[in-house]
Amino acid sequence: MIVDIHTHILPYVDDGAENWDVSLELLQQAESQGVIAMVATPHILNENDYRLEENIITKYRELKKRARENNLKIKLYLGCEIYAQPDMTLDHKISTYNNNQKYFLVEFPMTSIPQFVAQKFFDLILEEKTPIIAHPERNAGFINKPSLAYEFVQRGALMQINALSLLGKHGSKPKDLAYKLISYNLAHFVASDSHDPEKRSVRMAECYEIVASQWGAEKAKMLFYENPAKAIKGISIDREEPIPLHEEQKQSFWKRMKLFN
Ligand SMILES: [Fe+2]
Repeated sequence: MIVDIHTHILPYVDDGAENWDVSLELLQQAESQGVIAMVATPHILNENDYRLEENIITKYRELKKRARENNLKIKLYLGCEIYAQPDMTLDHKISTYNNNQKYFLVEFPMTSIPQFVAQKFFDLILEEKTPIIAHPERNAGFINKPSLAYEFVQRGALMQINALSLLGKHGSKPKDLAYKLISYNLAHFVASDSHDPEKRSVRMAECYEIVASQWGAEKAKMLFYENPAKAIKGISIDREEPIPLHEEQKQSFWKRMKLFN
């Protein structure tokens, strides 16, 4: 059983599914892989984007209806993927998962971790709102300094890895970091971040197998099913003790020379 908390399955609202057929195809793809529930998380790039909220809710209801008409059993929920902004708020119906006022999905620019984020997260965590950082393994800030992932988790944030990163589809650096984050207990969810049935498709079953064989069945169940289900319900998530992640010490030129002597 798999629960997928990061998807772009709603049509006509962002760069995800381009029409209703594609949306349904993604749902079918997911269902065939044992995904029992999916959260639609369209992009909210800034506060102004919340003007689309009613439209997003309408599309979500329509997708549920069409899924039923097509005999799909998969359960659908609503949330969004918020692009981190200094003035970001969580006051909207779609801001948190299933409007639970507890967990929200947030992404950073690919190139860096914005300065304001640490303080912003701290304030939100004090209000018992838990950030789930979308695909940290794709972010250059975390790639260049993985110890920051440990710091974010220590301070209460959770981390969501993309299935396609584990498969190497986003390149070798995101793949390496994804493996590292799981090994160091710094990953709490694996999700599809699916946009279309081909290039950015749902490949959760295959990733589940990889995680189960590398880190064991318990870990796979936690990352693909238990934690995602808890994030939707808004209940407390079990955190394994994170292992400090230090930068790999680059050996000095002289030290390397010594190795050859
Ligand atoms: Fe996304």
